[in-house]
Amino acid sequence: MNLILLGAQGSGKGTQSALLAQRFGLDPCASGDLLREAMAKGTPAGQQARPYYERGDLVPDELMVGMILERLRGLSDARGIILDGFPRNHAQADVLDARLAEMGQSIARAIYLEVPRALLLERLSGRYICRAHGHVYNIETNPPKTPGICDIDSSELYQRSDDTGEKIQHRLDIFFSETLQLTDYYARQGKLVTVDGTQSIADVNHAILAKLGAA
Ligand code: AP5
Ligand code: MG
Repeated sequence: MNLILLGAQGSGKGTQSALLAQRFGLDPCASGDLLREAMAKGTPAGQQARPYYERGDLVPDELMVGMILERLRGLSDARGIILDGFPRNHAQADVLDARLAEMGQSIARAIYLEVPRALLLERLSGRYICRAHGHVYNIETNPPKTPGICDIDSSELYQRSDDTGEKIQHRLDIFFSETLQLTDYYARQGKLVTVDGTQSIADVNHAILAKLGAA
């Protein structure tokens, strides 16, 4: 089973991806995590992506698609993948469908986490992620047991460089003007599932499982 998580910045894609990956034994693939890892390592792709990422702009399709296709190579051996943050436009969605078809696979469901803009801003301002693996916390809604330390791997928690007021607004503008159209793309394929993302983390997870027929 291959799943896509669609949703604005702060809607809970990373949070739910971790839970669904564990529940179904899926391989989690987050485009933002791939970029942050490449930038931290200083790879050529990471260096090219950095200025776009730091502005809160989308990284050019050819660069992002290249990284995702590379990541999909091992997919045939895995039980399935859960994509978080990719695709973000029609061009990326088309490439993904074509690549999966070549591999004899397809997307089973695209899950849209619907959250109003005001709540997204609040969540992102309180978000911290861990240095080692990008595990996600929130000082208000999902705090770590020890402040500043990841519960899972004990690495340091930090705030992302793109989680500042102005950049958050810019990223949200891109989502609502461009990426949101993908809900129509997957609805036309009969694969769209929409979930109310304003509920608690556990309730959102339960709602997703119910819509997948796995609650
Ligand atoms: P990326 O890392 O994907 O960031 P994003 O899309 O901005 O999404 P976020 O990670 O901000 O939000 P999320 O939905 O994962 O929320 P989370 O679970 O953390 O991309 C970063 C950048 O990389 C882009 O701006 C772009 O430059 C580039 N990029 C990435 N993909 C690309 C692509 N395909 N093409 C081109 N460029 C690309 O939750 C948010 C907070 O809320 C957390 O604190 C969490 O604890 C909390 N929370 C979550 N759920 C709940 C809940 N139900 N109740 C209360 N709190 C909650
Ligand atoms: Mg994320």
